[in-house]
Amino acid sequence: MMWSEVYRPMRVQQMIGNEGARLAVVKWLSGWVDGSRPLLLIGPPGIGKTTLVHTLSQQFNYDLIELNASDNRNKIGLQNRIMPMFHNAGLFGRKMLLFLDEVDGISGREDTGGIDSLITIMKEPTIPVIMAANTKNTKIKDLAKICKVIELTSIPPRLLMIYLDHILKEENEKLSPDEKVSVVNNSKGDIRSMLNNAQSKCAGYNSTHSETFEIDIAEAINGYFSKSELEEAKNFLSQADAAYLDPRFGMSAEERRKDMINALFSSIVSSPIDLSGLADALDVLSKIDVIVGRIGQYRYWRLMKYLDVMIAYGLFSSTRQKGI
Ligand SMILES: Nc1ncnc2c1ncn2[C@@H]1O[C@H](COP(=O)(O)OP(=O)(O)O)[C@@H](O)[C@H]1O
Ligand SMILES: [Mg+2]
Repeated sequence: MMWSEVYRPMRVQQMIGNEGARLAVVKWLSGWVDGSRPLLLIGPPGIGKTTLVHTLSQQFNYDLIELNASDNRNKIGLQNRIMPMFHNAGLFGRKMLLFLDEVDGISGREDTGGIDSLITIMKEPTIPVIMAANTKNTKIKDLAKICKVIELTSIPPRLLMIYLDHILKEENEKLSPDEKVSVVNNSKGDIRSMLNNAQSKCAGYNSTHSETFEIDIAEAINGYFSKSELEEAKNFLSQADAAYLDPRFGMSAEERRKDMINALFSSIVSSPIDLSGLADALDVLSKIDVIVGRIGQYRYWRLMKYLDVMIAYGLFSSTRQKGI
């Protein structure tokens, strides 16, 4: 298991660096009212932008809806996914937080208006919206004009060194002072890259690429919703690198990222599905959620293997050809 995943902070207080920026994000979220400007986080990779949004949504009890702008599921246009969600926000009876990660990935695409259409939609959000970008290119500057912008910076070497020592101690591993300095300097302020390098140094460079036939959760969900044959659709779900989590227990940001029920929820509520289809689909999801909770409560782990089938069959008819 990658250290960068094992040590992904679960609470905002466990993160290092960018204290002022983190505080500003917390303030923005707690002061959010209908019509507040969306938040745009700008900063280099590996410093915790994605982690920050995951931990906060959990700590503030939001249902996180994540849309990856460069995901091909969004070929119908971000606008078509976001608008219905803004309209229906009040119906869900839960606090929702929309997260558009890596929005600078959009600007290169010529289709669907890209950032320009995003700017139009983001003028009047009805739920809190956070966007994250790595760089401040020209397009992102336009977007920034209608956002509250919080910039994060790379992590200073001194802090990285302290953090590295802490992780090595946790792992019961040792690196020489020279090796540590080189790991810290090579990371250029990117915590993920620092942890990856340290881990491969400790392991004596083993490339642990386990042979796996699992597919990314987004790909699995795309496949499920796009197939017209039930069996074919079901196969996608059972291949997913996904987890079914007991909603009663806290989960790490990494677990949330693989949480099948949450991923399905995000896909459905951000689609142009009609209201009765939406109601049917959410009804199925909430039942599955209850079942997962019971399985956890009574420890009937062997029942877990039926969940893919329950979801695949339960959601199938209400979600065909709905542009999810
Ligand atoms: N501020 C931080 N404090 C502690 N660990 C961090 C921090 N930022 C990143 N990491 C580590 O790096 C990994 C990647 O972070 P991520 O949030 O995906 O960064 P970004 O979205 O800025 O690229 C996390 O899983 C975590 O292990
Ligand atoms: Mg990220």
